[in-house]
Amino acid sequence: METARQYLSHPCESRFRQRPAARLVRRSEAVYGRLAAGHIECMAILKIARMGHPVLSSPALPVDDPASAAIARLIGDMVDTLVDANGAGLAAPQVHVPLRLVLFRVPPGRESSPEETGENGCDPAPASALESPTVLINPEIEPIGTHMVENMEACLSLPGLAGMVQRHDRIRYRWTDTEGRSHECEARGFHARVVQHECDHLDGILYPMRMTDLSTLAFTSELGRSQPVED
Ligand code: NI
Repeated sequence: METARQYLSHPCESRFRQRPAARLVRRSEAVYGRLAAGHIECMAILKIARMGHPVLSSPALPVDDPASAAIARLIGDMVDTLVDANGAGLAAPQVHVPLRLVLFRVPPGRESSPEETGENGCDPAPASALESPTVLINPEIEPIGTHMVENMEACLSLPGLAGMVQRHDRIRYRWTDTEGRSHECEARGFHARVVQHECDHLDGILYPMRMTDLSTLAFTSELGRSQPVED
């Protein structure tokens, strides 16, 4: 909590680098659906905590006021950080803020079809452009069924690594938006996986803790190599 207070009260003028105003306005509109007065002047790329930092292994705290200016600034900085890192998702503890807030985006081509997500589906793609991730505040996940699927995952807090992780194929999740409104939707496939991965961060869980076969943990730079030739 101390970390969160320190971060949220930090004056941005002293350490945030400037961004072209037009780009920041576009991003602010994309994330909030409106301009966030007082927020577009300065945004930042935040340092990402790596595995081993205590902030990644502790449960995060609920966001008390999702509509506060401090949360709006945090989200803006997390969007900048996610885009800069070219990631699919980012949780507040990864930027040293122990609060229950995550961002994610589903790249075009990895969204589920309407038939897959059902009538309550809410896949953000293709509307989710590169710089407009979905923001989930105080999210809660409920698995749908027992079917698990395995796929490779990576994490900005474990740079250069990837591993096979089992996740629920279908989930229902609920969250609060930046105006304090509650939402609920169903997801499967990549959408369900990235939400589960990011929400795990809020409970101090990193993907290697979900792995059942550590032999699949690998440096991404080594993936795709052919098997060594026996001699
Ligand atoms: Ni991660």
